[in-house]
Amino acid sequence: MTKETYEEAVRYLQAQGITSPEVGIVLGTGLGELVRHIQIEKSIDYKQIPHFPEATVEMHKGKLIYGTIGTKKVLAMQGRFHYYEGYTMQQITFPVRVMKLLCIKYLLLSNAAGGLNLSFKKGDLVLLEDHINLQPANPLTGANIEAFGPRFPDMSQPYSLELNEKLRSIASQEDISLKQGVYISVSGPNLETRAEYRFLRLIGGDVVGMSTVPEVIVANHMNLPCAAVSVVTDECDPDHLQPVNIAEIIEVAGKADAKLSRLFIKLIEEL
Ligand code: HPA
Repeated sequence: MTKETYEEAVRYLQAQGITSPEVGIVLGTGLGELVRHIQIEKSIDYKQIPHFPEATVEMHKGKLIYGTIGTKKVLAMQGRFHYYEGYTMQQITFPVRVMKLLCIKYLLLSNAAGGLNLSFKKGDLVLLEDHINLQPANPLTGANIEAFGPRFPDMSQPYSLELNEKLRSIASQEDISLKQGVYISVSGPNLETRAEYRFLRLIGGDVVGMSTVPEVIVANHMNLPCAAVSVVTDECDPDHLQPVNIAEIIEVAGKADAKLSRLFIKLIEEL
């Protein structure tokens, strides 16, 4: 994809009135409640946006939502793209680049994840401090677009210290328990074996999931501060592993969604 490809999508969205978003939001599986707190000005199906990846059947929504939370203009993705759906990493991260070109100042992400750290319980919120990328491809391979960022971007602090500090202090004011940890990103779509969970814990993971890291890499490439929160949807204890299914993961995510929304809304109001 060339710079012009992204700019075409940007021009289309600007012509639709999406002119000054300040905060970009990517919501994870089962974590859509925040959208109900947006005063919506414009909602656009992905399929109408030039060069946007087509939403799959699984992702029944697939909408870009523009509006306000408090006094802030936000642009939220309802439905994100995953590598296991067959998209390329460039497609998965296309919307993040477009949001940055529309001049968002911050990117907030959420996801459903398995808890590798056994002190984490189902429904816990975990603030990402760092990550390990085990996905089989990287969104920055291929010709580098210098106007977007450097060939070899720094990743010494992929999650904004400023945003993380604010999130920790809001969580304590609001009496929301917020754990912290390292997220490991895998391709999926299968969940992990017991041996894989042991390995992921051993190499330093606290939570594991199938998203987020591609978007965070691209955000860092474009110098866009970001923060991400995982909801623990299953406990990955290799010695007592229970079979999980996606319906259960979505149900657990749904139960934690209200406190996650509250955390993000308070943060957006403070930015
Ligand atoms: N592994 C990978 N991805 C996940 C998990 C898991 O245990 N739970 C939710 N997403």
